[in-house]
Amino acid sequence: MNRSLLSLAQMNSFAIKAYTPQIMEINSKEDLYNLSTSTLHPTNFYILGEGSNTLFVEEMAPTIIHMALKGIKVEEIDDFYRLTVAAGENWHQLVEFCIENQINGLENLALIPGSVGAAPVQNIGAYGVEFADFCESVTWFDFADKCEKKLTRKDCLFAYRNSVFKQALKHKGVITAVSLLIAKNWQPNLSYAGLNQLPKESINAKAIMAEVIRLRQSKLPDPKELPNAGSFFKNPILSLSRYTELTKKYANVPHYHQKNGDIKVAAAWLIEQAGLKGKRRGNVGIHVNQALVLVNYGNGTGAELFNLARYVQDKVYKKFNIKIEPEVRLISSTGEKSMEEFQHG
Ligand code: EPU
Repeated sequence: MNRSLLSLAQMNSFAIKAYTPQIMEINSKEDLYNLSTSTLHPTNFYILGEGSNTLFVEEMAPTIIHMALKGIKVEEIDDFYRLTVAAGENWHQLVEFCIENQINGLENLALIPGSVGAAPVQNIGAYGVEFADFCESVTWFDFADKCEKKLTRKDCLFAYRNSVFKQALKHKGVITAVSLLIAKNWQPNLSYAGLNQLPKESINAKAIMAEVIRLRQSKLPDPKELPNAGSFFKNPILSLSRYTELTKKYANVPHYHQKNGDIKVAAAWLIEQAGLKGKRRGNVGIHVNQALVLVNYGNGTGAELFNLARYVQDKVYKKFNIKIEPEVRLISSTGEKSMEEFQHG
């Protein structure tokens, strides 16, 4: 291995031993400006937060931009707290900071790995709550205009594990901060299975956070002990007619009704029914407690994990005629690619 290459093994929660020719660390507004005037290739780079939703598929990765901007500002605006948080802060530490300071609302999103700047990109969500529910705006450094811009929540086009940052704004700039509005009049959200047995009348945000942490720890492996990136696939969203067809054969598929009438079904269930839960293939496998989580047992490579993901996708497709899509971002030596792009060269 060329000595001038930098290892990314400590910078991704799959602990894949990938290498990059360059890491550009962003610590200040000046670094951002310098970045936008540098000879950055228009697409051959990847913005990395804490690497908890990233699979380096190949041994080589492109130039890495690493956001390290820090800072949390709290303001009170009538019935709300406004938090302005820099992209390089850790998400879970932000949740803890809020709960310690009686700013309640983010407790269902406790223990989600990753940085604050990554939260809007895939609109992180868990236990019936998502980032978009609290987002007032996202501050964005635009590479072409070389300045910061504010996107309102509407501009961000949030959807299930999706946003404008993954679509039209991909490669066009970088998130520098988020602004959250959290209502002072706190209401618990106990709608999700697992939380709905908690006593709605006497519960507080700290106790909900503790329960969310307990639930997550009981199902999701700690990346420090068993490297993984949480859910590898998104839960597929089906039209009502497609869902009805599915239930003729599989009446008990776990499902969630969407506002537009579509139905989201549990990919973990589909994978388990396809007989894959707990399966191991060499150095990698499908987690024993949560079939949506792929794990690296030690010396797994990005290619091995990618091949396992394809195998899971194929098996589920053959059994249910449903194509599950990765939630994890797949990175090649020349930047991000879709599963299909990797397969076809
Ligand atoms: N299930 C199975 N087999 C399994 C695991 C789950 O049949 O091995 C069934 C469960 O019984 C349940 C359903 O699948 O009926 C859903 O399972 P779970 O509540 O564990 O949630 P999930 O849909 O698998 C999603 C998010 C998680 C988030 C949880 C809790 C996605 C892709 N994943 O998982 O987010 O923590 O809900 O809200 O939407 C992540 O994005 O990385 C992540 C961990």
